[in-house]
Amino acid sequence: MTIVNPTHASLQQAVNILEEGGVIAFPTETVYGLGCDTFNEDGIAAVYELKGRPKNNPTIAHIHDESIAAQLTDHWDERCEVLAKKFWPGPLTIVVPKKSSVPLAACGGFDTIAIRMPNHTTALALLSAFGGPISAPSANPSGYISPTTAIHVEQSFGGGVTVIDGGPCDCGIESTVLSLVGEPTILRPGSVSLESLVEIIPNTALVEQASQSESPGTAKTHYAPNTKTTLIEREFMNTLANPDVIAIAIHGTPRITKQVFVMPDNPVEYAAKLYATLRDADAIGGQGIYIEEPPKTPEWNAILNRLARAST
Ligand code: TXA
Ligand code: MG
Repeated sequence: MTIVNPTHASLQQAVNILEEGGVIAFPTETVYGLGCDTFNEDGIAAVYELKGRPKNNPTIAHIHDESIAAQLTDHWDERCEVLAKKFWPGPLTIVVPKKSSVPLAACGGFDTIAIRMPNHTTALALLSAFGGPISAPSANPSGYISPTTAIHVEQSFGGGVTVIDGGPCDCGIESTVLSLVGEPTILRPGSVSLESLVEIIPNTALVEQASQSESPGTAKTHYAPNTKTTLIEREFMNTLANPDVIAIAIHGTPRITKQVFVMPDNPVEYAAKLYATLRDADAIGGQGIYIEEPPKTPEWNAILNRLARAST
């Protein structure tokens, strides 16, 4: 059995694995992470190997206490403190210049480090028992849909990794990634919105499509099902008539499909269901997955970003 409940004993076991340079999958409020000791190069290598992740795609270091940031950067300035006070624990990742003691491999060879404090009791308990930062990309094979349950992780990595089960992730999409290196820039939109960040750092800008060199994980195709996936407008959803395709609708009603998933019409609930629905749709397979495009309004921004990446 590779899925374990979060108990004192299983967390201690997880700490032992991390200390030995191993990998442990754990829940956060966004998606499950595939974690290793940030300072252990064997652990980092194992995470990249398992995911099949390009070595130039940096990982996020997770911490349970803001003071741990001092182990990772000498640039934890007042802006970071204010952001942490407002959004941590929570789905905001802050990119700052890294300390020379942080292995380059953990940062994809960059001289910067991404840091976040997850808002999940089990993640915080694990981090606190471990005592130091845990580097963790999402616990999916590189390029595939992120996992929002322990079963999703097990489906990808089988018996190879212990997964601490923290239930389904509340948020359901990955954290907002904010770079404070140079002009404050959102490299990846998430539940912490541009509007709420601008209140604290007025000149924050949203990069529509971060370049590969800025943030390799924001490459165009990402989070993608194996089944060809297409975004369509509601009117087209209403005319869809093909017994070999799957529809993921909000308000639209297709005429004929293999299966229809009806999604919530508010972005918070939609995000929580998105990846599990994409995985279910992909498991059914067929000629294609057709997704009704949500409104192009700011509160749907992070979801629109993920849908654009999931589709071709
Ligand atoms: O919600 C999340 O952020 C989840 C959970 C597990 O915390 N983690 C996650 O990790 O989504 P990952 O590795 O799948 O995505 C991290 C993103 C990638 O787009 C990566 O390129 C970017 O953050 N990133 C990490 N370090 C960076 C850095 N130093 N500079 C620029 N972008 C960075
Ligand atoms: Mg990922």
